Amino acid sequence: MNLTLINNKFNEKFGATGEMFTSPGRINLIGEHTDYNGGFVFPGAIDKGMVAEIKLNGTDKVRAYSVDLNDYAEFGLNEEDAPSQSWARYIFGVCREIQKRGGKIAGFDTAFSGDVPLGAGMSSSAALESTFANALNELFSLGIDRFELARIGQSTEHNYCGVKCGIMDQFASVFGKAGHLMRLDCRSMEFEYFPFDPEQHGYKLVLLDSVVKHELVGSPYNDRRASCERVAAVLGREFLRGATMEDLEAVREKISEEDYKRARYVIGEEQRVLDVCEALKRDDYETVGKRMYETHWGMSRDYEVSCEELDFLATVAEECGVAGSRIMGGGFGGCTINLVRTELYDNFIATAKAKFAAKYGHEPKVYSVVISDGARRL
Ligand code: GLA
Repeated sequence: MNLTLINNKFNEKFGATGEMFTSPGRINLIGEHTDYNGGFVFPGAIDKGMVAEIKLNGTDKVRAYSVDLNDYAEFGLNEEDAPSQSWARYIFGVCREIQKRGGKIAGFDTAFSGDVPLGAGMSSSAALESTFANALNELFSLGIDRFELARIGQSTEHNYCGVKCGIMDQFASVFGKAGHLMRLDCRSMEFEYFPFDPEQHGYKLVLLDSVVKHELVGSPYNDRRASCERVAAVLGREFLRGATMEDLEAVREKISEEDYKRARYVIGEEQRVLDVCEALKRDDYETVGKRMYETHWGMSRDYEVSCEELDFLATVAEECGVAGSRIMGGGFGGCTINLVRTELYDNFIATAKAKFAAKYGHEPKVYSVVISDGARRL
């Protein structure tokens, strides 16, 4: 990330120097659309994120400059002051959610920039929210604990950005630890760090970005969540978490075929996360990979959040002998995450690029993954 560029822009706009904060995007090895069902997720923070320079300005206004969009917004801190630009609403939302929790904040100047590819399913928005939640917590000595910082980001999505997301992305962005994935139980909020070093075992983790843009705002994402909640209600449970396939079969006549398929995917996914964690403890990466494919096809056929391009990439991976491949994140475009034996890596990347370009007219983008630390001051 180009910190000098941010420093220069901040100085140019505000004639001063501020303090630097950063938060990462995330990957998720497995456990997709399980977070808002009270289930398990298994993400890790990555070496791509958001960086913001911030300085208190002694007013009650926020003056924010997006270096990447070359766009400027100025807004107050009251509910009626919401800015019109969608990027600025993430910052505004974080300010509002902090205040709703009793945090006393005031105006600040900021310039920020990120290197998380937008719309690729790596949670650029959570990176932005966590950067500001963490920074304001420190700058105003608010003493908010780290789980609450993650919830502030999540509530920002719910209340200011229109996405009824779970907690995974913000959790990963705040709690990330270099070299570790985190298994979070989204019902109890207990979590455990798992050392994760596939290279040591002869595998590489790589993301292939279809460059099909996904847009979760006002999207079928909220519909998926609603389906799960309807089925949970019929089952008399708070969450789908903990329901079995037998439970689901028993109510099949009472729910729509579509809701049935959505719930079938989620219940299967719960078990897959646990299987993957067990397999990792035995360094059994082939089993990890098998579960990833199952997730992919579950997300494609039952949850219906994949798209033709991502199904194509997963199929090419399978043909190349890749251990595991699946759509990552909320869906509707974005990346596949691939677990590849080192000796197959070069051939897989070359084949995927060539086949994808032949069919869709452009190559997928390739991102290698480094599991990194969470929200922090630089
Ligand atoms: C998005 C949401 C997360 C989670 C994933 C799917 O990234 O923000 O809360 O639901 O989709 O696993």
